[in-house]
Amino acid sequence: MTNKPSILLTGGAGYIGSHTFVALIEAGFTPIILDDFSNSKPAVLERLQRITGQPVKCQQGSVADVELVQGLIHRHQIATVIHFAGFKAVGESVAQPLKYFENNLGGMMALLNAMQSTTCRTLVFSSSATVYGDPASVPITEDFPRSHTNPYGHTKLVCEDMLAAMRVANPAWRTGVLRYFNPVGAHPSGLIGEDPAGPPNNLMPYVAQVAVGKRPFLNVYGNDYATPDGTGVRDYIHVQDLAQAHVAAVQTLLHGADSFAVNVGTGQGHSVLEVVRAFEQASGKPVPYQIAPRRAGDVAQCYADATLAQDLLGWRAKQTLANMCEDSWRWQSNNPDGFV
Ligand code: UD1
Repeated sequence: MTNKPSILLTGGAGYIGSHTFVALIEAGFTPIILDDFSNSKPAVLERLQRITGQPVKCQQGSVADVELVQGLIHRHQIATVIHFAGFKAVGESVAQPLKYFENNLGGMMALLNAMQSTTCRTLVFSSSATVYGDPASVPITEDFPRSHTNPYGHTKLVCEDMLAAMRVANPAWRTGVLRYFNPVGAHPSGLIGEDPAGPPNNLMPYVAQVAVGKRPFLNVYGNDYATPDGTGVRDYIHVQDLAQAHVAAVQTLLHGADSFAVNVGTGQGHSVLEVVRAFEQASGKPVPYQIAPRRAGDVAQCYADATLAQDLLGWRAKQTLANMCEDSWRWQSNNPDGFV
């Protein structure tokens, strides 16, 4: 038991948390999920049990419940917390900023409070490339200026700053900030994947729903950007690679490394039309689309310089766009209505 450190995953039943849960077990850790199921379904737990072949440790509840989190850290002798729990819909955050401040900032504050009353001072945080705002150039390195273009992005930036302030106040804190680019794909079993509530905001799940026949066509938001084919370019990263980045982050911190903030991307950009073609290839299904006006707040290109993560964590992305589409398709076609 002692050689299997326990890791608390807030929001561990969600898309990225669930894939990281599996990767942690494979790496010899004991992950424990804390989730209020506000944006995930309990059905994921049975799928995780099928994939890992063992009972899933899960506590239903909120990260804002300081006593609950304290109790979990004590009871399970948590070595590291990975803080996934947070709302992530950009448009919703513009319409309901307070909901985002309360949940994302309040959740982080409560978690830090709970941890402060225990001996656990090691935390990995789900940040986002959104903290680079509208980047002046690509590829993006970690020393680019940070800014925000919506309340969701603002919460990620402030959470990063909260961690920095904790480290200044007490150097015992060691934090790993992972700035995700565009996570896509699914576990190769087809048992877990992204299950957006309502129409997907993000490209890959939308494309998957068009391919499976749930939606008639994709709106391509703009074809007049300064990119090779005029459509937006992003750094899509397989969620399995992203899960491995969390394992590497935990291992690095538990081996005593200093705090870090790293990009988690492939370093390669793909356009919307490249994604459409790759998905058609992987699924054997047509993905009809129409060109629509640009989406407010979108940038032409966003992709990482991913070398720092390799240098500090010994991690790099391995999977191709074709793999991402194949796994996304397996999940979507096996579970057309998500977790039911
Ligand atoms: C979006 C968020 C970002 C957040 C990330 C989380 C916005 C403006 N940005 O990033 O803050 O961290 O999700 O995953 O919402 N596209 C279409 N049609 C669609 C959907 C998307 O053409 O139906 C295009 C977009 O214009 C963009 C690309 O596909 O060029 C990727 O879009 P998306 O998946 O929403 O990711 P981001 O905009 O990069």
